[in-house]
Amino acid sequence: MLDTVLIKMNTTNKNLVFNILTILLFGVNSIFAQSIKYSSFQPGEIWKDNNGIHINAHGGGILYQKGTYYWYGEHKIEGKAGNAAHVGVHCYSSKDLYNWKDEGISLSVVNDTASDIQKGCTLERPKVIYNAKTKKYVMWFHIEKKGKGYKYAHSGVAVSAKPTGPFKFIGSVRSNPGHWPINVLPIHKQPVSDYVKKTYFPGGGFPGNIDTLNILGKFFDEGQMERDMTLFVDDDGKAYHIYASEYNATLQIAQLSDDYTTHNGRYVRAFAGLFMEAPAIFKHNGLYYIIMSGTTGWLPNPGRAAVAPSIWGPWTETGNPFVDADLETSYHSQSTYILPVAGKKDAFIFMGDRWRPDNAIDGRYVWLPIEFEGDKMVLHWYENWDLSKFNSN
Ligand code: GAL
Repeated sequence: MLDTVLIKMNTTNKNLVFNILTILLFGVNSIFAQSIKYSSFQPGEIWKDNNGIHINAHGGGILYQKGTYYWYGEHKIEGKAGNAAHVGVHCYSSKDLYNWKDEGISLSVVNDTASDIQKGCTLERPKVIYNAKTKKYVMWFHIEKKGKGYKYAHSGVAVSAKPTGPFKFIGSVRSNPGHWPINVLPIHKQPVSDYVKKTYFPGGGFPGNIDTLNILGKFFDEGQMERDMTLFVDDDGKAYHIYASEYNATLQIAQLSDDYTTHNGRYVRAFAGLFMEAPAIFKHNGLYYIIMSGTTGWLPNPGRAAVAPSIWGPWTETGNPFVDADLETSYHSQSTYILPVAGKKDAFIFMGDRWRPDNAIDGRYVWLPIEFEGDKMVLHWYENWDLSKFNSN
């Protein structure tokens, strides 16, 4: 009899201990998962959304609309495989730029082998702009077919009636087939050699001069290559697509059609043969500024900057805008977007990615204030900073 009671008590105690442990574990878990209220930026650190999960919007860009910021970026998954697009474009919203609410996947990849946005494709650097005439949100992104490396070099276009989506994929393009850029050279209109016609140049360098080789002419009929990209809407409502082209050797800046869903035939070549990518652009005091990187894949390299009196150029390089320790790695980041802060004068935030190619989902965000020394922009490193940094402007 006593024996039975003891055994019973033991079982009860065990259950009790188990229950207490479970409650503790779940309790602690939910404390960790709880959202944090941020009041500053901490570049390179884990940045949690309203659900307590690290923000998943890499290679991203921001749209500001009626008091709300929308952050769009590549949704990555764990591991090396996570660099490809298994989910789509993630969207977050915020009123203060520090605290972000998960708005879900605004454009989903699909289980369709015939689609360019097939699950497992490469879908990079999505950017969204709002077209006031059509009242549509228009998303552009770099797209590469699943398992085909970076040869396709197209841009995908998707539209939505709401900023958070769902965006509808309308197709992918090469830019401006049959059109010469504004600054075409006579040499480009010469025939393209059989060697250039047949050769795929992997990027990073060329066996000769980009114009003598005539890479531009090679793509005249099928349209220009488009890889790393961003979008920019000017004060007059005209929008531009800015992308690494010609095997990444040259940046092209192309005007979009009035509805922002395609190119309108007007474009310019900049930094020909200089191999710059990851473009991020803004306008300040009537001048156009651009920050870019060199072409070293996921590995960071020294940033590049340039300024121009018009979006069409001429663009003058102003050197590496990163000026503190680790400037040669752009503070371990690569540019993706430059955000004008609403309601603050001369306030621009540099947004960069600290890629983690071995575990893509763990990529970090490096946001820093853009400062001006005369007409030259500089980026100092701040471990922790907030928007009051702009108050003295
Ligand atoms: C970088 C590019 C990224 C991604 C990566 C792949 O140069 O900026 O968007 O394409 O290469 O290696």
